[in-house]
Amino acid sequence: MRFGGGGSHEKKTFVPELRIPMTEQTTRSQELLARRKAAIPNGVGMFNYATAAKASGATITDVDGRELIDFAGGIGVVNAGHCPPPVVKAIQEQAEKFLHVSFNVASYEPYIALCEKLNALLPHGQATKTLLVSTGAEAVENAIKIARQATGRQGVLCYTDAFHGRSMMAMTLTSKVGYKLGCGPFAPEVYRLQYPNVYRYANGRSVDEFAKAELARLEEAMQNSIDVNDLAAIIIEVVQGEGGFNVAPAAYLNGLREFCTKHGVMLIFDEVQAGFGRTGAWSAYEHFGITPDISTWAKSLGSGLPIGAVMGRAEIMDKAGPSTIGGTYIGSPVSCAAALATLKYMEEIDINAKGRHVGEVIRTRFEGWKKKHAQIGDVRGLGAMLAIEFVKNGDPLRPDADTCTALMNACAKRDLILITAGTHKNVIRVLCPLVIDDATLNKGLDIMEEELAKICV
Ligand SMILES: Cc1ncc(COP(=O)(O)O)c(C=O)c1O
Repeated sequence: MRFGGGGSHEKKTFVPELRIPMTEQTTRSQELLARRKAAIPNGVGMFNYATAAKASGATITDVDGRELIDFAGGIGVVNAGHCPPPVVKAIQEQAEKFLHVSFNVASYEPYIALCEKLNALLPHGQATKTLLVSTGAEAVENAIKIARQATGRQGVLCYTDAFHGRSMMAMTLTSKVGYKLGCGPFAPEVYRLQYPNVYRYANGRSVDEFAKAELARLEEAMQNSIDVNDLAAIIIEVVQGEGGFNVAPAAYLNGLREFCTKHGVMLIFDEVQAGFGRTGAWSAYEHFGITPDISTWAKSLGSGLPIGAVMGRAEIMDKAGPSTIGGTYIGSPVSCAAALATLKYMEEIDINAKGRHVGEVIRTRFEGWKKKHAQIGDVRGLGAMLAIEFVKNGDPLRPDADTCTALMNACAKRDLILITAGTHKNVIRVLCPLVIDDATLNKGLDIMEEELAKICV
């Protein structure tokens, strides 16, 4: 937590529930956090004590006027940076025309243009269609509904360490118990398979050997968990987000594609966190040369305005019956304008090249730290979707959440916003805006390196 700085108040209040130590002066940040504590339910997650008054590029200015380097990017939402000027302008222009009519009531161009753009950018076979929604969870809910209608089957297979959102089906598909404690009963006909996590489970086997064994596990599940003829869809994150940036092996994804094609199962890739430049490509799946039947998108598509998308082969998307998909706010015109401007801007600045560059800089630093610090068990990811995993005694099965939390908190004190990931909260992930300049990026990495050296042996 930051103390002093501009705008501090001469009050003796402090916030014991938030474990903010007592000081002579209470900052505006502390005051705001105390109000948050009083007005907002405790269940709303809080990674750290940062506040925000404004943001630009890769920097957030807090309510005390301090500049924070943002390595969280609003949890992967601002790949194109905070407040890209063309996006802000597009939002303003659309807001002056109309804010809402509901796409179910009156068709409007920004919705249609955005779907056309996405269909061209991310084709799913010969002809592609897109449904716009407002969030990642909503995209996932609709993807499952469409897969069920397209196949006439009900079963859905998902993975350990998966995160797909917090609405009821999405929460059911989400793996970590901590995200859903006390919220059941959950949606029926959902089955879970172990994610092919190479670091955790390969145990000395080659990646291909491991992938083969995990595919055998899938076949086995068709005997032990659900008949393949009842299986509508398999939903997977090619690179897991909240689960700790685990990358599925290419051989596994290829096997999954073959399995789904053979059995008429819809393969759904959830690209909500990995999409739009994060991995150095528009999608994570492009790296593997595989196309899903259906895919889900959100986060960086709107640069902060709520927008999500379900994409799929046209004949699959058209299997959804009248009025079974939709919603009052689907594809808000202002969000559509923001998304269209975001995609145009991303193309102009070549966001994917930026993703690859940022990824190279971070990976080089992370790999160097791994050589120095025994607590770092793994450095992994794709493009700029990079993470370090902390373990005890070099054992992938002994997560070290303490070191991870200590690093996050130490960096917060030095105005670097970091967030964790992983079912065991032992992974630091970087989701910084991809427009970050090298000096700011390296300044953030320097802070991490210095604090790591203090915390680790
Ligand atoms: C892979 C993935 N899917 C779905 C979601 C849910 O998105 P939202 O929070 O917009 O509902 C998330 C959010 O972190 C995610 O990472």
